[in-house]
Amino acid sequence: MPRVYNFSAGPSMLPEAVLEKAQAEMLDWKSTGMSVMEMSHRSKAYVAIAEKAEADLRELLAIPRSYKVLFLPGGATGQFAAVPMNLLRGKSKVSYVSTGLWSEKAIAEAKRYADVQIAASAKAANFTTIPSRSEWTIDSDAAYLHYTSNETIGGVEFHGIPEVGDLVLVSDMSSDILSRPLDVSRFGLIYAGAQKNMGPSGIVVVIVREDLIGEPLPGTPSIFDYKKQAENGSMLNTPPTYPWYLLGLVLEWLKEQGGLAAAEARNQAKAETLYAAIDDSAFYSNPVDPACRSRMNVPFRIANPNLEKTFLAEAKAAGLVNLEGHRSVGGFRASLYNAMPVAGVDALVEFMGEFERKYG
Ligand SMILES: Cc1ncc(COP(=O)(O)O)c(C=O)c1O
Repeated sequence: MPRVYNFSAGPSMLPEAVLEKAQAEMLDWKSTGMSVMEMSHRSKAYVAIAEKAEADLRELLAIPRSYKVLFLPGGATGQFAAVPMNLLRGKSKVSYVSTGLWSEKAIAEAKRYADVQIAASAKAANFTTIPSRSEWTIDSDAAYLHYTSNETIGGVEFHGIPEVGDLVLVSDMSSDILSRPLDVSRFGLIYAGAQKNMGPSGIVVVIVREDLIGEPLPGTPSIFDYKKQAENGSMLNTPPTYPWYLLGLVLEWLKEQGGLAAAEARNQAKAETLYAAIDDSAFYSNPVDPACRSRMNVPFRIANPNLEKTFLAEAKAAGLVNLEGHRSVGGFRASLYNAMPVAGVDALVEFMGEFERKYG
């Protein structure tokens, strides 16, 4: 079976060159006579792999030295809890902006630890837009403000960093980290599960300003304590060693592809191609305010929902898979992360045109 174009929202496509490298190194990593999977996380060989991944991430995102980079288990969902646990620092209030289902999940979890104030919500607009910054009301006592830079389900993305003055800014960047250059210094903390733009599932990256850590809520589990994890090189317990290695291979690949500016240009081009195909047709539609459409996850519908199953079946036969929308919203969704080649989007757009001619 030839490889398909996999439009899954996550776990998602990985660059073929990365899979081939992992395959070539599977049985014998650099003359160690063993797979990375079989290495002790304390071994010299593995520590080199882990350190190289951190160095490459620091280089790609130009992460200032005053930030710690952690590679942790528990996914972004774990961070929904770890963020308030670590960043309350004696305060009780936190501010969240709600732009979709992932914001809502982060809010629900934070409520278990903090008094959550909603600075702005797009719920009344069915999460198809982002409330403009001038409409936000942020509690001056909040320990931080949290937003979700890209809503993977709704397909809504921030195209700039919100201005919050001296307030600590926190962002869940699970589905758009590494898709474009980023000014990390604007943030107190950034977290992102790997399984969309960075690697396989099983590992989450946390980038946190060093001065913010070291005052966790009493009772915070050690593995969720950023300071303890930072002091132990993210190896307070056995880390997800193989996902960390694969993440490192993805970072090496990204550097070879020209880094984040080049990734941004490719992502912009892919998204423009698909949105143009949707907007130029009366058959397909996307509900999101054009000013905040996601470049990573493009939800779309067809006028006649009875054709959805046929669309998915014919797309699959054409090698275009995992186009169904999230189970909570239905319709279709095409995820266009870094590893999705331009040719994949071109093939999708061609298929959509043919489908419309046939059934429209
Ligand atoms: C924006 C966003 N945040 C958080 C999550 C949850 O990630 P995890 O399953 O790694 O906990 C996801 C997963 O799809 C996501 O898209």
